[in-house]
Amino acid sequence: MQIPRLHPDTIEEIKQRADIVDVVSEHVLLRKRGKDFVGLCPFHDEKSPSFTVSQTKQMYYCFGCQAGGNAIKFLMDLGKRSFAEVVLDLARRYQVSVQTLEPEQRQELQRQLSLREQLYEVLASTAQFYQHALRQSQGQKASQYLRSNRQFKEETIQQFGLGYAPAGWETLYRYLVEDRHYPVQLVEKAGLIKSRKEGGSYYDVFRDRLMIPIRDVQGRVIAFGGRTLTDEQPKYLNSPETELFSKGKTLFALDLAKTGISQLDRAVVVEGYFDAIALHAAGITNAVASLGTALSLEQVRLILRYTESKQLILNFDADKAGTNAAERAIGEIADLAYKGEVQLKILNLPNGKDADEYLHTHTPEEYGELLANAPLWLDWQIQQIIKDRDLRQASDFQQIMQQMVKLLKRIESSEIRKSYVAYCAQILSLGDAGLVRLREENLETQLVGGTASVKRQQKPLTANVKNYLSRQSPALPPDRSLLEQAEALLLRIYLHCPEQRQPIIEELETRNLEFSLSHHRFLWRQILESTREQVDLISNLQDIYLELSEEIEFVSHVFHLNEKSQFDDMLRTSQGIQAAIACMERVFREKRYRYFLELWQETDPNVEPERWQSYYQAFYTEKLRLQELDRQRRFTLTDLL
Ligand code: UTP
Ligand code: MN
Repeated sequence: MQIPRLHPDTIEEIKQRADIVDVVSEHVLLRKRGKDFVGLCPFHDEKSPSFTVSQTKQMYYCFGCQAGGNAIKFLMDLGKRSFAEVVLDLARRYQVSVQTLEPEQRQELQRQLSLREQLYEVLASTAQFYQHALRQSQGQKASQYLRSNRQFKEETIQQFGLGYAPAGWETLYRYLVEDRHYPVQLVEKAGLIKSRKEGGSYYDVFRDRLMIPIRDVQGRVIAFGGRTLTDEQPKYLNSPETELFSKGKTLFALDLAKTGISQLDRAVVVEGYFDAIALHAAGITNAVASLGTALSLEQVRLILRYTESKQLILNFDADKAGTNAAERAIGEIADLAYKGEVQLKILNLPNGKDADEYLHTHTPEEYGELLANAPLWLDWQIQQIIKDRDLRQASDFQQIMQQMVKLLKRIESSEIRKSYVAYCAQILSLGDAGLVRLREENLETQLVGGTASVKRQQKPLTANVKNYLSRQSPALPPDRSLLEQAEALLLRIYLHCPEQRQPIIEELETRNLEFSLSHHRFLWRQILESTREQVDLISNLQDIYLELSEEIEFVSHVFHLNEKSQFDDMLRTSQGIQAAIACMERVFREKRYRYFLELWQETDPNVEPERWQSYYQAFYTEKLRLQELDRQRRFTLTDLL
């Protein structure tokens, strides 16, 4: 459903009515302490309460895990739901009438809302009907199939709500329309019956099939997949696209897997319904299935909401038709991987088995082991390139080299690319250490020669790329966490000490400094954009972040002051600003220093004496400035924090 844009008045009214203490108390046992309420944080495991709710501020904050925000944010995070979903739910609960930006959309919205609710109901009844049928004599064959062929226990059958669609043409139709009096059009809209071309009568879409309910993230049935028990085609019949169901936006079993994904901080994506079910039955609870199509960007985004480190392991059937098959399955998300926005790994099980088959003859631990050792998408591709080829053969060597260059060209981050150039060079040198440097040069020459891609302006690294990189190559500067703290401190001071705002801006401008970490840079942009109004900067910013739930995780802590940081920061703000800025400048200078040093080393003074001289000047200047910065930092930032 396209949700029309809600009128700001509606959102405001909902915020007014949905009292934070009310909303939170439904999920957390709160006790009054002073002005505030405290309880055990629902977002992390804890034994003593560090989760606080302030009625006056209408905000919550956890000192343990830094989760924080208002009532809407609380419900979004708790149920992993979107802004619009939560707002509409609250509107219903607190009886706020919903206004849209365009008045004529309003009726449409009400109509859509009630249609959707009715569809959920029909589908839930249908799921029950199928589950019941599985346990009747007509369902015996299906039930037998689940137990023997699939080796599922009753518990698993229940957990996934598996069922059986009886063999007649109108069994479901009669049940829903004649017995339960659901309107025919509604049942048709739910994708459960179809009208015959002549005579206007209807027949069931699913007949004599094993039924697998497909649920949304909240666990509501939105569609079905039906597997034949004979060799009828198609093997799987799925619900058509409906108001509630869109194949490309749905992941099977995400409702059951979301907790596992958050806890393990990674997701396993398989192709088949039964692969996902078998994995859950084996205790691997972070598995979802893609419904047999190429993974769409939307599906990936959906999963990535639950994993902070953005780890995705694709366990697709081992490529039947070479690398292309896997590439097709990965589809649009290849780009995300090249950008470093998802840490994509590939698992191919031995002998071309799928997860379900594999688990029939192996233990969950063995599967877990394979998962843990699954190669990164880039490494996997390199493996594919050299597989079944002989580097000692000149023609193979040329082909491998070409394909490597093609792959390396697509890597956007120059740092990641560099480490892969080194890796490929190592492979190409066949264990001869003396050859590595030459192979690197070969690859680099071809990379520069091909397209302008290497020369084009290099994008700054996102935080994710950096995470990714720190696992990839140890060459990353070790001062990231200090920089993280320095930048956060500066932002915190900016937000909580209005009188320091101008000095901070001036200091950054005169020293020509920027925030290096992307989540800080993003917040800084928002700050600069909203300062002009000056109303209530912090709550303004939090509103902006509400709609960007993924972004806030990294910065939510700067919106809040605990008692310690409150005192310390206020007492030493100007020292803090100086130290933080010095730290930022140090990182910036050091980068320039290394950059010019490298250029200088690479330049031949006999060929280009002037250039050589100017690089020398440049890196030497940076070096002096670095020394001065170190002298200036009379106390270190770590003392302050
Ligand atoms: P597969 O045919 O690869 O195999 O379908 P599978 O899941 O291992 O099938 P089993 O083990 O023989 O039951 C993978 C997924 O592709 C979709 C389904 O979601 C299926 O789970 N699919 C497959 C269809 O939608 N329609 C089909 O006809 C086949
Ligand atoms: Mn299978």
